[in-house]
Amino acid sequence: MKLLVTGGLGFIGSNFILKSLAHDNDITITNVDAELYGSDHRNLLQLKNSDRYNFVKGNISNKKLMEKQIDKCDLVVNFAAESHVDRSINDANPFLVSNIRGTFTILDIITKQNKRMIQISTDEVFGSLLTGTAQENSKFNPSSPYAATKAAAELLINSYCITYGSDVVITRCTNNYGPRQFLEKLIPKTIVLAHNNKKIPVYGNGKNIRDWIFVDDHCDAIDLVLKNGKSGESYNISADNEIDNLTVIKKILDMMNKSEDLIDFVEDRPGHDLRYSMDSNKIIKNLNWNLKSNFEEGLQKTIQWYENNPEILNTMSNALESTPWKNSN
Ligand SMILES: NC(=O)c1ccc[n+]([C@@H]2O[C@H](COP(=O)([O-])OP(=O)(O)OC[C@H]3O[C@@H](n4cnc5c(N)ncnc54)[C@H](O)[C@@H]3O)[C@@H](O)[C@H]2O)c1
Repeated sequence: MKLLVTGGLGFIGSNFILKSLAHDNDITITNVDAELYGSDHRNLLQLKNSDRYNFVKGNISNKKLMEKQIDKCDLVVNFAAESHVDRSINDANPFLVSNIRGTFTILDIITKQNKRMIQISTDEVFGSLLTGTAQENSKFNPSSPYAATKAAAELLINSYCITYGSDVVITRCTNNYGPRQFLEKLIPKTIVLAHNNKKIPVYGNGKNIRDWIFVDDHCDAIDLVLKNGKSGESYNISADNEIDNLTVIKKILDMMNKSEDLIDFVEDRPGHDLRYSMDSNKIIKNLNWNLKSNFEEGLQKTIQWYENNPEILNTMSNALESTPWKNSN
C-alpha cells in the first residue's frame, strides 16, 4: 500500500510513519510537509536511507502539488495542521489556510481521484464539557480558533461524503504525549524547563483537565481506522485518563527528581477549556482497538526519550530562551 502522509515531520505524523514502516513491510510512505514550526527532520533521521520513505517539501493547500502526489498513492492520512491553540489566539489566519483550505484541497482531489482519506481531528471540536463525555455524534462547540478550523474541516468532509460519496474517515483524539513532541506543548515544555531547573508556568489554577494518551496508542488506532474504518464515519479515540495539568506537572517533577518550587502560576489564557472528554467505545467495539500504555509508563518513556536526545533537548532549551514561555494543553 502506498500511503501519502501529510505533516509527517511533526509529532504524531513522525511517530505514525516510524511505526507503520516498522510494522508493515508492504507499506511505502511519501511525506508532504511544509517544514513549519512544529516540524523537525531529526524526527525521521533514521529513515534517511530507506527506499520505502520519500520526503516532499510542500504545502497541502498547493493544489498542483497535491494532485501529483495523491495520484501516486492509494490513501492519504492528513496530519498537517497548525495545531497550537495559543498561536491561533494571536493570529488565526494561518490556521484557516492549513486546517480548512489545506484539508479542502486534499478532500476535493481524493474525491476526483477516487482515493481514501483519513482526517486526523481532535476532541477540541466538542469544546469544554463540565460533565459527561462526547460521543461521535455530539454537538460541536469549539472554543478556540484552532478548534473552530478543525471543526470546519470536519463539516466540509461530512458534506463531501453526503454529496459525492467521498471515501473519508475522521479520527478525533484527545491530548497526545510522547517522544518527538514540539516544545510548545505542556509535557515537553515541562520536561525541558525542569531539566534546566527553570520555572514552569501553569495557567490559572492548573485544574484544567485533559485525557492524556500515549502517541503509540493513537497511531495504533489510526492504523486500524485506515484499514477497517467505515467510510463517512468518525471514531473518537480517548484514553480514560482524565487528569489535571497541575497533577501532570507534579508527576513529571517527581519522576525527574525536581522540586515543586519550580511551579509558577500565571494568568489564565482567554477561552481556556476546563475539560475535554470523549467516549471511545465505538473504536473499541467495532475495530478492536485497545490501549497498551499506562500514563506513568508513557511519561517515563517520554522523559527518557528527551534525556537520550540531548541535541533536541538543547535546541528546545535555546528556543525557550528566545520565545515567550506561553504554555499549552
Ligand atoms: N497533539 C495532540 O495532542 C493532538 C490531539 C488530537 C489531534 N491532533 C491533530 O493531529 C495532527 C498532528 O498534530 P501534531 O501535534 O503532530 O502537530 P505538529 O505541530 O507537531 O505537526 C504538524 C506538522 O504539520 C506540518 N504542516 C502544518 N501545516 C501544513 C501545511 N499547510 N502543509 C504541509 N504541512 C503542514 C508542520 O510543518 C508540522 O510538521 C493535527 O492535525 C492535530 O490537529 C493533535
